[in-house]
Parts: sequence; structure tokens; C-alpha cells
Amino acid sequence: MLKVEEQTPVQLSSELLAKFDEVKSRYPEGKQKSALLPLLHLVQAEFLWVPTSAMDQVAAYLNIQPIEVYEVATFYTMYFLKPQGKYALEVCRTGPCCLVGAEKILDHLEAKLGVKEGEVTADGLFSFRGVECLAACGFGPVLQISPEYTFYENLTTESVDKLIEDLKNKS
Ligand code: FES
Repeated sequence: MLKVEEQTPVQLSSELLAKFDEVKSRYPEGKQKSALLPLLHLVQAEFLWVPTSAMDQVAAYLNIQPIEVYEVATFYTMYFLKPQGKYALEVCRTGPCCLVGAEKILDHLEAKLGVKEGEVTADGLFSFRGVECLAACGFGPVLQISPEYTFYENLTTESVDKLIEDLKNKS
């Protein structure tokens, strides 16, 4: 997976464009602008975030204005608009999860990883942030890992430590 620095222009690969073609073919002629969301997910899977230059290329690909892509990418919080770690840990910080320790998990991640929310660890492996409800309210504290969107529930500081070690070992 290609890693880029913020503001670095990127070039969409021929492999990525082939995936674009496959996704776009699912939509009828004249409605292919509707492929925008899945195309942005493909961009994010490739670069770990959605660089502006990639958005511009998506706009050209779909024959729409760049502002139409920016509007969508900035509306949905699932799209990262700056570089993330290979494992972007997203901790629910909505009320029910806060009641069972979400803020403690966020504090623990900051201490454990040695970075603040939104920053990336020096090895490029991890970043974390608090997000709104992840729809697993009965199992808090909860986190998901982007871009695969795997879920981890009933978190404790110990289970977070184990998760981080497991992710390091598989990298
Ligand atoms: Fe945390 Fe809903 S409040 S998953």
C-alpha cells in the first residue's frame, strides 16, 4: 500500500483505475456519478487517506466538478482528509461508551502510542481518534479499525495493549 505525505500529489495507479472501471460499470449511463462514494473508499484503501489531488482525479474520471467531490469527502467522516496510520483506531466517544470508559481508552491510546489524537506514530503504523456512535452501544467501549472496519468491543486497557501488540506483530 502506497504511503504519501500530506499535500504530496498522488497519481492513481492503473490497477486502481481498473477497479474504478469495474465499480462504475455497475451504474447506468448518465448515473455514474453515483459511484463517487465507493471510488473514494478505493482511494482511501490505496493511500490510507483521500488526498486532494486524488479527489481531483476522481472528479475528472467521473466528469464532474472537483467541488462535488470535496463536498462529499468533507461531509462523511469515514473519509480521512489527512494521512493516517496503517491502522487508524477509531474509538466511539458518544455518551453510552463514555459511561463505560471510552475516555479512559482514548487517554490510554495517547499514552501507549505516544501521539496525540489525529497524529501518526513514527513507524507509520498507528493513529487514533474519537468518533461518534459506532452502533454497538451495548458493547462499549468500542473501537473500529479503518480501513477494514473491524470491530473490537468491551475494551479494557489490557485488551487495547494486546490489540496493539497483535497489530505490530502482523505488520
Ligand atoms: Fe458507542 Fe453507540 S455509543 S457504539
